[in-house]
Amino acid sequence: MNKIKAFAPASVANVSCGFDVLGFAMSGIGDAIEIEKNDSGEITIEPIMGPGTLSTDPKKNVCGVIARAMLYKIESGAGVTIKLTKGILPGSGLGSSAASSSVTAFAINELFNKPFTQLELVQFAMLGEELASGTQHADNVAPALMGGFTAIRSYNPLDIIELPVPSELFSVVIHPKIELRTKLSRDVLKKQVTLKKAIKQWGNVAGLISGLYTDNYELIGRSLTDYIVEPIRSVLIPGFAEITQKAKESGALGCGISGSGPSIFSLCQGEQNANKVAKEIGAVASKLDLPFDIHISKISSTGAIILE
Ligand code: HSE
Repeated sequence: MNKIKAFAPASVANVSCGFDVLGFAMSGIGDAIEIEKNDSGEITIEPIMGPGTLSTDPKKNVCGVIARAMLYKIESGAGVTIKLTKGILPGSGLGSSAASSSVTAFAINELFNKPFTQLELVQFAMLGEELASGTQHADNVAPALMGGFTAIRSYNPLDIIELPVPSELFSVVIHPKIELRTKLSRDVLKKQVTLKKAIKQWGNVAGLISGLYTDNYELIGRSLTDYIVEPIRSVLIPGFAEITQKAKESGALGCGISGSGPSIFSLCQGEQNANKVAKEIGAVASKLDLPFDIHISKISSTGAIILE
């Protein structure tokens, strides 16, 4: 095989209480890539299609950095040409850099006859997150590669848990069209938390995980509170209070910032409720004059896939 086309989905990270730990894959939105092998020993990135203005310098582009690290490890001497098609706007909070990073790691592994394990692919994809945001977090790249709902139990050593997803669980993600760079929304965070807040937070993580295992929608909903990160970041998101209040009034189980924002996710029981929440929060965003996109999706059990 000399050429491959692949896709990796957008994702919602943190899921309120699980900063840098929890994430799930979305359906119907993501980044696609075409990678062709050659014997130049060089990595070339062609002009990027889709929204955003990303660098095509392989040292400044997540796909280039990951391709270089993987080819170095494989010791093949081969080069690659990369054509990336963005379906996700960078700085949206929908795991844009993670989708590009994951699809690159996945596609190169396939193209070179699968020399790496899935855990190693997550580690390569984390290099992209480091370039984009300054830290190697895996809460977006794990679901973008593996699909479903994942938890990073440990970073060192990397230990990822695949969680079950209740069959009626839907996500509604509203993306107010402003750009919020992950690096900025990480820089504003405090480096220390009080024991009182930490206790509340890990109680919610336990509740959310338990709710996923037992199909307990009400427990999932009442666990979706972030006492640590959201109070600091939400001020960066116009309409956050109004949108989350309306989502809850419309029957969402709970809601919060998607990744580092500005997108806001809601979890809902059933498609009908998801549609209702989407309609109501869309009306709020329109009233506030906020340009937006809305994505309603089941949590995708599929992560990165081959397209051709
Ligand atoms: N956990 C990350 C953050 C996700 O909130 O900064 C965004 O990439």
